[in-house]
Amino acid sequence: MSKLLIVGGSKGIGASILADQISKRSCVNISRTPPEITGDFEHHSLDVLTDDLPAIDDLSTIIYCPGSINLKPISSLKEEDFRSDFDINVIGAIRVIKKYHRQLKRAEDASIVLFSTVAVSQGMAFHASVAAAKGALEGVVRSLAAEFAPSIRINAIAPTITDTPLAAGILKNDEMRKKMSDRHPMKRIIHPKEVAGLANFLISESAVSMTGQVLQVDAGITTIR
Ligand SMILES: NC(=O)c1ccc[n+]([C@@H]2O[C@H](COP(=O)([O-])OP(=O)(O)OC[C@H]3O[C@@H](n4cnc5c(N)ncnc54)[C@H](OP(=O)(O)O)[C@@H]3O)[C@@H](O)[C@H]2O)c1
Repeated sequence: MSKLLIVGGSKGIGASILADQISKRSCVNISRTPPEITGDFEHHSLDVLTDDLPAIDDLSTIIYCPGSINLKPISSLKEEDFRSDFDINVIGAIRVIKKYHRQLKRAEDASIVLFSTVAVSQGMAFHASVAAAKGALEGVVRSLAAEFAPSIRINAIAPTITDTPLAAGILKNDEMRKKMSDRHPMKRIIHPKEVAGLANFLISESAVSMTGQVLQVDAGITTIR
């Protein structure tokens, strides 16, 4: 099977995906720091926004994980916040896709998975900057799904709050965790493995007809009152 590139496999959801995939296929990870898990995979320590991306042969699949949770009222959000959220969520993904999409075009069942957030489809206070960036990313997913069909599938996953280093500031004590859990109809905080499970499905043969989708892992928050 051709290689899987995970950008952001050192932590959080990406680390769960890497842990699932290293026994199944050849994996390449890109992140600024190396993953804690050991095993048979290739790692490149680099910043996806500023460093040159490595050549990778026999690549068919990309999962781009870097993102942001930058929650502030509009009075505190600076233009620079919007720019930096756009950079890590959108420009980073675009850099990676532009670097490798010709290779993916030649591969069998090529696919890409990006990450949005439930705060695009649900109005959530203090999310203007991240919602702007992720909303743009959802547009990229639908547009590229049209442009790349039938050779490359591209989908996104939109999680609600998930227990990863990115969300540590929002889940930093029991009280905050309970409050966050209580906001969700399913009364739970999502584990990164659950989101990784959907990413694993989207890059698998079982999802061979799925493209242009944004799928929520949301503990019920987007559709249930
Ligand atoms: N966690 C949540 O509650 C939540 C909710 C909604 C949406 N999401 C979205 O889900 C995705 C994954 O989130 P997560 O919580 O797993 O994030 P995370 O815990 O912050 O992990 C992000 C990964 O990306 C890497 N990374 C970040 N910036 C990078 C850069 N400039 N260059 C290279 N690698 C970089 C990090 O590694 P290094 O630090 O080693 O570089 C890490 O491996 C994100 O797009 C996020 O916006 C998350």
